[in-house]
Amino acid sequence: MTASGILHEIEEWKARRNAVILAHSYQPPVIQDMADFVGDSLELSREAASADEAVILFCGVRFMAETAHILAPRKTVLFPEPAAGCPLADCIDAPSLKTLQEMHPDALTVLYVNSPADVKAESYACCTSANALEVVRGIPGDEVIFAPDRNLGTWVSRQTDKKLHIWNGACRPHSQADLDDLKKIRSEWPDAVILVHPETPPPMWDLSDEVLGTGGMIRFVDRSDARRFIIGTEEGMVYRLSTLFPDREFRAAGKIFCPNMKVTTPEKVLRSLKDMGPVVKLDADIRERAFASVSRMTEIGS
Ligand code: 13P
Repeated sequence: MTASGILHEIEEWKARRNAVILAHSYQPPVIQDMADFVGDSLELSREAASADEAVILFCGVRFMAETAHILAPRKTVLFPEPAAGCPLADCIDAPSLKTLQEMHPDALTVLYVNSPADVKAESYACCTSANALEVVRGIPGDEVIFAPDRNLGTWVSRQTDKKLHIWNGACRPHSQADLDDLKKIRSEWPDAVILVHPETPPPMWDLSDEVLGTGGMIRFVDRSDARRFIIGTEEGMVYRLSTLFPDREFRAAGKIFCPNMKVTTPEKVLRSLKDMGPVVKLDADIRERAFASVSRMTEIGS
């Protein structure tokens, strides 16, 4: 079948299934182009919770599809490529978090949404990069366990007086962002505004103009008068910004590439709509216990 034939069939099957396609901004261009809604982790969670359709087809990585299922348990959440995991999410497990909680009994746990569902079930509030600081500030108490991303935790800790106990995990593509690449691109585009994601290491922040999640980057560019931007996050975001702002110029701050975000294809999306699978299913007890924490995340911040 031709590429346009597949896209046409996807439209037909989407209507037949009463489905909506949600995609993260790191997805391949062809998936961003076909999606009904493209957004950051927080926007996608809110969209999943409020969608009218009976079926959510999620193009992203597993923890995102699981979060949609936690927030919308009566909808069917299709996840076309079950192998699309997140090594950052996999670096924490529930028994290890409980051990840390026993060491710090006065601290509430704020968990980055890039985490497994059974760990979410042990946390007080989830957060995304868009609202991590607001969540930490907004919860009761002066002591917080923050997991699993150490760079995001460090970025938050620099802006609050609360005491943070930070898990030592990291997103591989972001944490390996190369400072020399950023310096080289900055020397070629000295007039550009530099925006980097808080999952990158602190030396990247020190060279940048703003540290923002992907949704924050879009809002920043929208308000800015600058013409050129260097983008320090997964390269899918350069495509996203270029489609939203065709009158501006964007360059990646070096190679930040997430292989798990790139495995979704139109063929897999079509197969998933036809088969009504693979479906995201979590143990009901874990899903219900995670709901409170994930709901606090969707209620706080922009
Ligand atoms: P956002 O919170 O900006 O969507 O980032 C998601 C993510 O997984 C970063 O690696």
